[in-house]
Amino acid sequence: MKTLLSAAVLLAVLACFIEGQATKPHILLVIADDFGYNDIGYHGSEIKTPNLDKLAGEGIKLENYYVQPICTPTRSQLMSGRYQIHTGLQHGVIFPPQPNGLPLDSPILPEKLKEAGYATHAVGKWHLGFYKKEYLPTSRGFDSYFGYLSGAEDYFTHERCFGKMCGTDLHDNTNPASYSGQYSAQLFSHRAADVVKNHNTNQPLFLYLPFQSVHAPLQVPEQYTKPYMHIKDVQRRTYAGMVSVMDEAVGNLTEVLKQKGMWDNTLMVFSTDNGGQIHAGGNNYPLRGWKNSLWEGGVHGVGFVHGQMLKRKGIVSRDLIHVSDWFPTLVSMVGGNLNGTQPLDGVDQWRTINDGSTPSQRKSILHNIDPLYPPVGQRLLSSPFDNRIRAAVRMGDWKLITGFPGNGSWVPPPHMKSQEMPKIKNEAEKNIWLFNITEDPNEHNDVSSTMQHVVMNMLELLAQYNKTAVPCRYPNIDPRADPKYHGGYWGPWE
Ligand SMILES: *[C@@H]1O[C@H](CO)[C@@H](O)[C@H](O)[C@H]1NC(C)=O
Repeated sequence: MKTLLSAAVLLAVLACFIEGQATKPHILLVIADDFGYNDIGYHGSEIKTPNLDKLAGEGIKLENYYVQPICTPTRSQLMSGRYQIHTGLQHGVIFPPQPNGLPLDSPILPEKLKEAGYATHAVGKWHLGFYKKEYLPTSRGFDSYFGYLSGAEDYFTHERCFGKMCGTDLHDNTNPASYSGQYSAQLFSHRAADVVKNHNTNQPLFLYLPFQSVHAPLQVPEQYTKPYMHIKDVQRRTYAGMVSVMDEAVGNLTEVLKQKGMWDNTLMVFSTDNGGQIHAGGNNYPLRGWKNSLWEGGVHGVGFVHGQMLKRKGIVSRDLIHVSDWFPTLVSMVGGNLNGTQPLDGVDQWRTINDGSTPSQRKSILHNIDPLYPPVGQRLLSSPFDNRIRAAVRMGDWKLITGFPGNGSWVPPPHMKSQEMPKIKNEAEKNIWLFNITEDPNEHNDVSSTMQHVVMNMLELLAQYNKTAVPCRYPNIDPRADPKYHGGYWGPWE
């Protein structure tokens, strides 16, 4: 009798253990492209995002959340947990014929989640290099991949031209794919739904869904702009329609996860990759500047998390969180290990996000140091860092910008044009700005001349970071990449 009882107890414990394994949350990581701070409903946008608003409202809105000013850099940090100064990707995006990629010397997010028992699937944009097979998503921890390897192609034909080099940029795993005529948000949404439907729920799922939406070119099936006929600016109206498709796609996918019985155990992370592009319908008002700038409009991103397992729900988090934090955060959340990575710049934020028991361990963010950008103005005599170089760093409440930060206008959305700020006077040689971002999140009051000791401390911090930088890798275009040599497709050529 006694042995029977202990056998039963043992079985129960075992069952619990197995169940414990199976209850690792599924992870849905959704990235929007060029989605601006003022383009989501809950930031007061004229664009309607009912699904995203509901998810963010039930979850945790990250309102002190930072990304990088452009695409490849943000994605590189998301996947590797490492700053660009440590991966050689300090300058620019990877253009299709550039033989470049996120270095292979440090395991990335899907590899670590796979080690932790996850099925790993990616649907959408890659943009982390593809000149050699080793750089493709399916060589870097994804069980499957459907999407495009570069950026900025046509939403319907999936063609991308770079100068005279033109080709289709769409792959199903490593096979060229042809879905001409199918709008990418719908195509990716359907493919993501298939991944979920075909998933064996005994295994936790990691689904990475980086949408093409809402990057230029401005294209959308007509019915999605109907609710926005009151927006007179055609670019903004089209863009609003593009946001609506993405919002609908996310809503649809959550329904599929519910039908499959997976939703209650899914942690969803939503993030933009950078600020909105003013010249292509996006908007970041009241933040200053936009995509491709070191102003807040370039880097202060939209982000939220959602999940029934979260200890805190329906709240706003003002903890300082950066896109490089997702790698250690998600891996630690699922009990994985970070063995074998190069030193990480990301910080594990799981307890900060989940239950608020630990304040963010992140005190600073290196927004970037770009050694290839043309220097501006004069070097300060006593400066430990060459302040002519394009760079920005955050430390606590303070943000320092050096060199050329990019366009620093405040641009209200077209229907609010009357509120346009007076043009800032052109100071061509100016190369240092200091802001207290907590008090002045829209960067109206540059205090660099009155807070010189803070400027010096921040320059010292930049100098320290700069000592750890690897050389920037920004190779020339390789003519062998031309799709005309590869059956009309962009793909590995080396
Ligand atoms: C969402 O689902 C509806 C109903 O099935 C469908 O008509 C619509 O095209 C889907 N939207 C997207 C973006 O896939």
